[in-house]
Amino acid sequence: MKNRLSVKPWILGLAVVGLIAGSLLISGYIGFVDSNLFCSISTAGPPAITGYSPAEIQLQSIIHYATAKIVPQQSLDEIHISFDVLKVRCPCNFLIFGLGHDSLMWASLNPHGTTVFLEEDPKWIQTVIKDAPMLRAYHVQYRTQLQEADQLLSTYRSEPSCSPTKAFLKDNKKCKLALHNLPEEIYEKEWDLIMIDAPRGYFAEAPGRMAAIFSAAVMARNRKGSGVTDVFLHDVDRKVERTFAQEFLCKNKYYVNGVGRLWHFKIPPAANMSKTDRTSDRYC
Ligand SMILES: C[S@@+](CC[C@H](N)C(=O)[O-])C[C@H]1O[C@@H](n2cnc3c(N)ncnc32)[C@H](O)[C@@H]1O
Repeated sequence: MKNRLSVKPWILGLAVVGLIAGSLLISGYIGFVDSNLFCSISTAGPPAITGYSPAEIQLQSIIHYATAKIVPQQSLDEIHISFDVLKVRCPCNFLIFGLGHDSLMWASLNPHGTTVFLEEDPKWIQTVIKDAPMLRAYHVQYRTQLQEADQLLSTYRSEPSCSPTKAFLKDNKKCKLALHNLPEEIYEKEWDLIMIDAPRGYFAEAPGRMAAIFSAAVMARNRKGSGVTDVFLHDVDRKVERTFAQEFLCKNKYYVNGVGRLWHFKIPPAANMSKTDRTSDRYC
């Protein structure tokens, strides 16, 4: 009995050391897998600019989609195209045209990143934000109507401030396709991913996606950093989306993949383009 008692502290000591070393190894491994698998998805981090931590946004998202009666319009295969890019690029700057039933999902798939929404309808912003106050959404006023699409496409080349070598967005009143009056933050940030799933483009007086597509192309080309911009365009079953994507996002050069009604482009900054492309008077 005496002997057993004298050995016990050794065994106990070894066991404690083993336990600590084991748990450190395991937690280190989990941390490694976690942070490499998907943007430290479940680790605590600094709160987002909205004051909500990434974990809070993700938990709210789980509850929302577990109880939601309306699901996002994009199909699972379409969502996966952007999700696959987010897995590699997050945390990143993600700009999304349109608030919808998918907004909370996109924000929670970019933990520690910046996800900002541009929405045409102020009432719809209030409706969405009421249930998801952690989303960062700005109202945007468009100067175009869907019924002007053909005319805009045939005349934009005669306006120098729309040309690929000179185009800019902020205060560019002369180029009607340029989104010239967005919040300062949109011009200041370089956007890694841009999703165009708005504004509405299914009736003549709707703004159409012409300016969103053009402005996404200008943002990507004018990037100062060397990274490409992943641009996702939804509703490519419609003529305007297809035609403007071909003209400004360059289906022939920068299209990488697509499924259903979604096309995905990787657009390099102009500085990384060949001299011929960089100085051309055509976007594509
Ligand atoms: C084409 S929808 C796509 C939205 C999103 N991808 C989704 O899955 O819900 C985009 C636009 O439709 C409008 N919208 C969508 N749902 C709406 C609703 N329930 N009421 C009013 N406007 C709505 C908004 O202006 C929004 O920017």
